[in-house]
Amino acid sequence: MAEQKATDILMAEHRGIERMLNVVEAAAARVERGEPVPPALFADAAAFFANFADRCHHSKEEQHLFKTMAERGIPVEGGPIGVMLAEHEQGRAYVRAMREEGDKYAAGTLKDPHRLVEAVRGYAGLLRQHIMKEDRVLYPMAERVLTPMDQTALVEACERVEREEMGEGEHERFHAMIEQLEREMAIERA
Ligand SMILES: [Fe+2]
Repeated sequence: MAEQKATDILMAEHRGIERMLNVVEAAAARVERGEPVPPALFADAAAFFANFADRCHHSKEEQHLFKTMAERGIPVEGGPIGVMLAEHEQGRAYVRAMREEGDKYAAGTLKDPHRLVEAVRGYAGLLRQHIMKEDRVLYPMAERVLTPMDQTALVEACERVEREEMGEGEHERFHAMIEQLEREMAIERA
């Protein structure tokens, strides 16, 4: 069996993040048409993005992958890693807005869905192009510069983030959440 690489783990996480983006975009379109969606959907999705995408996935990148790439000579400031870091930061602002408005939606107190819809669309647009850049440019770059020992250390680091930052069983819980919300929104998987 071929050795697993950290970028394989991270790319698989991108696929999960994209599925949740499909869910929230479909939900935002419904809300915009004045149709209801399950009350907790946006708040749950915002929690998914804050934890699975940001706390888990982005910390694997920021604390480990990008750091090792920088040690192997890829520039941070003004280079591709700097762009990725700035986009993670922009994403955090959208997720905060999605969570605030999503909480109001869940409580039934959201009068105007404009800010919610904007946060969903802004975040989805940002993340989709961000993920594409990582999959097509940044990760291939990592594969060129990282040594086999780096790869092994990074896979271990990803497993450690999983255990220590997220806790046992959290990853599975988030995958179950994707499937549940896809069912609630009647989203067919491509
Ligand atoms: Fe990523």
